[in-house]
Amino acid sequence: MTLHIRFMTKKDKPTVVRILRDTTEFKPMEIAVAVEVIDSYLRDPVGSGYHIIVAEMGSRLVGYLAYGAAPLTEGTWDIYWAAVSREDRGQGIGSALMSHAEDEIKKARGRLAVIETSSKPEYERTRRFHRKTGYELACTVKDFYAPGDDKLIFLKKLEL
Ligand SMILES: CC(C)(COP(=O)(O)OP(=O)(O)OC[C@H]1O[C@@H](n2cnc3c(N)ncnc32)[C@H](O)[C@@H]1OP(=O)(O)O)[C@@H](O)C(=O)NCCC(=O)NCCS
Repeated sequence: MTLHIRFMTKKDKPTVVRILRDTTEFKPMEIAVAVEVIDSYLRDPVGSGYHIIVAEMGSRLVGYLAYGAAPLTEGTWDIYWAAVSREDRGQGIGSALMSHAEDEIKKARGRLAVIETSSKPEYERTRRFHRKTGYELACTVKDFYAPGDDKLIFLKKLEL
């Protein structure tokens, strides 16, 4: 089955929210913020500063990714959230979403993609995904999220 990646529209919201709620790695507060970002994007896809893409396998929406230009930078972009439905993970959908987002960022003259994540053991698979898609750990902010929970900043230079 081929994968089709396109920008998110209003009719995709219920499925994307379901995928987010099924993602046990995300805390309820993180899901609430992810949904706020989705609403802001859907209200104003051009002016919100957010970009959201979804992946479809046949007629089934199986993943999403949110990203945006980092304010007050020249060509630096943040990758905010990515999630693939539980039953579809490990088949290259997350990597395809990432590479599509990077292509869009490059078209907008972006040169650096940034991902921030947690050092907690339950994020080990997520960190493996970031490394696998070409991101390198640039720095660690000790105890940023909570005592013992560091912020890890992963970077990827995008070839223009
Ligand atoms: C991380 C995520 C978006 C990757 O999407 P995916 O479609 O599973 O990724 P791909 O198939 O392209 O790549 C698979 C790699 O992702 C990593 N991975 C992370 N979580 C995984 C999972 N639950 N199942 C399978 N692979 C996972 C592995 O390193 C795997 O490679 P490996 O099997 O060679 O070690 C997806 O697994 C997911 O939604 N995870 C939970 C939410 C999350 O961590 N989001 C990212 C941070 S915002």
